[in-house]
Amino acid sequence: MSLSGEKEIRLNIPFLDLKRQHAALKAEIIEAISRVIDDTAFSGGPFVEEFEREFAAYCGASYVAAVGNGTDALHLAMRALGIGQGDEVIVPANTFVATAWGASHAGATPVFVDCHPETWTIDPARIEERVTARTKAIAGVHLYGQPFDVAAVKEIAARHSLFLIEDCAQAVGAKYRGKRVGGLGDAGCFSFYPGKNLGACGEAGGVTTNSAGLDARIRSLRSHGSLVKYYHDEVGYNMRMDGIHGAVLSLKLKYIDAWNGRRLDIARRYREELASSGLRMQKTPEWAGHVYHLFVVVADDRERLRKHLESKGVFPGIHYPVPCHLQKAYSHLGYRKGDFPNAEALSEGCLSLPVFPEMTDEEVEYVIKMVNTF
Ligand SMILES: Cc1ncc(COP(=O)(O)O)c(C=O)c1O
Repeated sequence: MSLSGEKEIRLNIPFLDLKRQHAALKAEIIEAISRVIDDTAFSGGPFVEEFEREFAAYCGASYVAAVGNGTDALHLAMRALGIGQGDEVIVPANTFVATAWGASHAGATPVFVDCHPETWTIDPARIEERVTARTKAIAGVHLYGQPFDVAAVKEIAARHSLFLIEDCAQAVGAKYRGKRVGGLGDAGCFSFYPGKNLGACGEAGGVTTNSAGLDARIRSLRSHGSLVKYYHDEVGYNMRMDGIHGAVLSLKLKYIDAWNGRRLDIARRYREELASSGLRMQKTPEWAGHVYHLFVVVADDRERLRKHLESKGVFPGIHYPVPCHLQKAYSHLGYRKGDFPNAEALSEGCLSLPVFPEMTDEEVEYVIKMVNTF
């Protein structure tokens, strides 16, 4: 019983419940997978090609090369752009570390920059001080589903003759000034990891581009450096997408706008009904069409809020507890705590509230109530 005498209902709300989406689509998914099995089109092949065409049209990009996962997408995009040993790629310090892996796997060095204190995406005002004679590209991240300031970053890239790579892993369907992300720079790198807004039944990714040459190079590199079977133009990789993922992604693409719409509805309620909670939220400029892969708040005492929510059956996430420049994997680069105060403050205070399309209104209300009773 609560103090007011009402009986308290306790719900259990996971950070993400993928089972609900798959239960609703189970018959369609099984049918799609069985078509792949009947065709034995397991690696690349017609189902992947169909998804490539559909996804390119969806993103408004000329080409999509489907690959094994989002990390492969970043790695292959950078390799195909000719980025390698001795080169530098500018990367926001507050991203999932795979943005930086792209540069490292290509043989280059990620050079971190701080995020904007309010939008939490790469801060254009901090980029130029990190540009050197070795810089080859800027990899901006549409963080949590919110586009970064593409025009501002593009202008800097143009001034220094740098490539612009969009990390779209969290942002399928997000819009920058009315245009979907992916076709706005030289290459757009997507992840279709199962928990993403558009998720495969396994690992998958893709690279969007408007350059026929870049697309061909990625297609070659992903498949043993070969565009003609058994003729190898360069040392390549096996980073193809499986047929099953192509078929599942094609069918899920039909639902993505409805799913993103529901995420937006939930996020609007969180924003409105948590406005006086004292928590800080991501500032969304009027030109940004956010798709809320994550709904992140920043708390003064994150651990206390997390424990409170968990004690009430609400299970938030943390994206991400350690910024890239302070990761052990990059300790050899010599960064120190204090180098990027905005990214560090975010890592210390951030908490991701549950947001997924299948959440019920009752669950959304419960999360709001539990945050507001903190
Ligand atoms: C911003 C960002 N970049 C890259 C990746 C890597 O994608 P994947 O896990 O498919 O390799 C992810 C997702 O995990 C991500 O969130």
